[in-house]
Amino acid sequence: MSLKSIQRKRGYTKYVVDKRLCYYEPSRDKLQKTFAQELSSSLAQKQKSIHPKFFYDKKGSQLFEEICKLPEYYLTRTEIGILTQLYDKLPSHLNGDFRLVELGSGSSKKTRILLSILERLHKHIEYFPIDISKILKESSTILLDDYENLHITGIIDNYESGLEFIKNYDNKKNLIAFLGSSFGNFDYEHGLIFLQKVNSSMKKNDLFLIGLDLVKDKTVLEYAYNDSQGVTAKFNLNVLSRINSELDGNFNINKFAHHAFYNEYKNRVEIYLRSLENQTVEIHKAGMVLPIKQDELIHTENSYKYTISKIKEIFSMSGFRIKDIWFDERRYFCLVLLSKND
Ligand code: AVI
Repeated sequence: MSLKSIQRKRGYTKYVVDKRLCYYEPSRDKLQKTFAQELSSSLAQKQKSIHPKFFYDKKGSQLFEEICKLPEYYLTRTEIGILTQLYDKLPSHLNGDFRLVELGSGSSKKTRILLSILERLHKHIEYFPIDISKILKESSTILLDDYENLHITGIIDNYESGLEFIKNYDNKKNLIAFLGSSFGNFDYEHGLIFLQKVNSSMKKNDLFLIGLDLVKDKTVLEYAYNDSQGVTAKFNLNVLSRINSELDGNFNINKFAHHAFYNEYKNRVEIYLRSLENQTVEIHKAGMVLPIKQDELIHTENSYKYTISKIKEIFSMSGFRIKDIWFDERRYFCLVLLSKND
C-alpha cells in the first residue's frame, strides 16, 4: 500500500505545529467506531473483556506514567538501567543514518537515552513516535526544547497502521523501538502476527529493539501489579470511566474492583475488573445493555513474562535474527536487538 493510500484509508489529517514538529491523526470518527465496535463484540463474549489498548486515554496514560515510578513496578527502572548501558554498546550496530521510530511514545526518559545515542552519531536526528494516545503531542513538544537538531513526525494511531505508514515513508534506515515490555501484552498468536508485521515493515538494514520482562519469582510479579498505593487499580478502573465519557456508558466504578495474579502455567500476570454486585450497565454508543453478575470478571490485560528459550523461538519464527541481547544484573528484564533474517 502506498503512503497516499494509507493516509486516505485512515483519513489522516496532517497538523504542522512548527518547522520541527508535525503529526498525523486519523479522523475522530474512525477511532470512535473502532472502540465501540470492539467493545460490542468483546463484552458480548462469555468471558467479557476489554482490550488493554483502551487503557491509554489521557488520564490512563498519566496513570501509567505513575505506575512506572512505583517502588513495586521494577520494569521501568530496570529497563532504563539496561538502556543506559547502550550508550557504549548500541553505536557499533548503527552504521549509517538511522531515525528512531518508537512504538508507543512511552516514557520520555527512555526516548531521551536513545535520542542522545543518535545525537552523538548524527547532526540531525529524526524521531517518529507512534502512539494511540494524544499525550504524544505534549511529550514531543518538550523533547524539541532539549534537542535542537531534532525533527519529530508523530503518528497518533495504532501500531499496525503506524508501521504501515513508516514502511512507505522513505529509504532512510529505521531503528524501531518497542520498549517497556509492551509486547508482553500480546498473547502468543497475536504477538507472532505483530512481529511478522514489524518484520515486513522493515527494510533490509533496519533494526528492531524490543524490551521484554522475564519470568521471575511470583511474589515480585504480584507486588508489581498490586501496588500498595492502588495506582494500578485506578489505571485498570479508568477504562470504565473512559467508556462512560466517550461512549456514553453508565459504569459505576465503585461497583468494580481491580484483580491481578500471576498464572505460573501460562507465564503471565492476568488482570481483571471484578464486579462487586449483580448489575446492569448500558453503553449507548455501542448499543449495549450488559448484565454483569456479582464476582464476574472482565478481563482487561495479560502481561506475559518470557524465558530465553521462548524469546529465541518467537523471534526465529517471525523471521528475525538476534544481533544482541542485554540484561540487568538480576536478570529481571532484557533488551533484544534484532534484524531481518534475510
Ligand atoms: C504497558 N504494559 C507493558 C504494562 C505491563 O506491565 O503489562 C501495563 C500495566 N498494567 C498494569 N501495570 C502496568
